[in-house]
Amino acid sequence: MPILNRAAEMQDEVAGWRRRIHENPELNYDVVETAAFVAQKLREFGCDRVETGIGRTGVVALIRGNLGDGGTVGLRADMDALPITEASGKPYASRKPGKMHACGHDGHTAMLLGAAKYLAETRNFRGAVAVIFQPAEEGGAGGRAMVRDGMMEKFGIDRVFGMHNMPGLAVGQFAIRPGPIMAATAEFTIRLKGRGGHAAMPHRTIDPIVAASQLVAALQTVASRTADPVDSLVVSVTKFHAGEAYNVIPETAEIAGTVRTLRKEVAELARLRMQAICDGIGTASGTTISMDFRANYPVTVNDDAQTVFAGDAAAAIAGEGQVHRAIQPLMGGEDFSYMLEARPGAFIFIGNGDSANLHHPAYDFNDEVIPHGVSYWVKLAESAFAARAGGNGAA
Ligand code: NI
Repeated sequence: MPILNRAAEMQDEVAGWRRRIHENPELNYDVVETAAFVAQKLREFGCDRVETGIGRTGVVALIRGNLGDGGTVGLRADMDALPITEASGKPYASRKPGKMHACGHDGHTAMLLGAAKYLAETRNFRGAVAVIFQPAEEGGAGGRAMVRDGMMEKFGIDRVFGMHNMPGLAVGQFAIRPGPIMAATAEFTIRLKGRGGHAAMPHRTIDPIVAASQLVAALQTVASRTADPVDSLVVSVTKFHAGEAYNVIPETAEIAGTVRTLRKEVAELARLRMQAICDGIGTASGTTISMDFRANYPVTVNDDAQTVFAGDAAAAIAGEGQVHRAIQPLMGGEDFSYMLEARPGAFIFIGNGDSANLHHPAYDFNDEVIPHGVSYWVKLAESAFAARAGGNGAA
């Protein structure tokens, strides 16, 4: 089954929805207009049940198949944009200054709407499909909010699948891996309190800038000298704030940054080691150092069997040679991780071609991806609970 003809026919219509969403980006949980547009479309398509307000502004619709009983497969898209000023120069660029769809969530939402329209028309599958549109993927844990709101139980979802576009991967190609595919993220803030004073009399001060500088250097050893070299760990200091004058040693300094890992245990190891470094440098320098370490999204872990199933669905529409089944994990975070903690499933990347990178002001979702993405969702839905056991991973 190559790309569905019907999905190819739908490209312009889906691209129209995509551009409409692109022009009106909304952040975090405030995806009010986007969610209303999505819900209105899902009702127009004749979905059996459309519910809004799940996880504050999430939307879920249920579509029942005509081929008999089965479970319910969840297909998920994200709806939120980013606080970035758009520089794509496109005619449908953001009309809201300081906000843009720089991660392609406009494309994800439109493709899942396209699949919902197709599936509601044809209903050529067993069981049911729940199409999930979530808010607040970019740091607000909207996926967790929907899970906590009982989405899985309410809609009887057995398995969940997510998809994200990937710049640099050719259009028509897919990329996936079993096990961890995206990292767990954590943020830290470290505050140092010394004793300020005249810069010409450093011996009467406790300089928090020198201590913070030692700290930045010492934190580089957490990944290089604490974690097992075969484990993935990133510790990046991304903020360093201290001082205001040429001739004053400040009283305080603050550094902050992010930690990325592919295993929970490694994140805990990093936290403990960072605390020990803070304590040690605090003692040596005479500064008072406190660290606030906040775990954010967990690791996005693909279920082995569902990864084979998702890879097979992608291969069925793209050809086996177009599906990379064992890519390296990415150290970015993804809050589909919360849905994968609740149900088995898999997260896949779809090629966005030679575009600007995600979160870049010149980024734009590639509308040529639409038929591939819509076909993938349809193939997943139609084979999720297929009657014959054919190694399709049906749970
Ligand atoms: Ni994204």
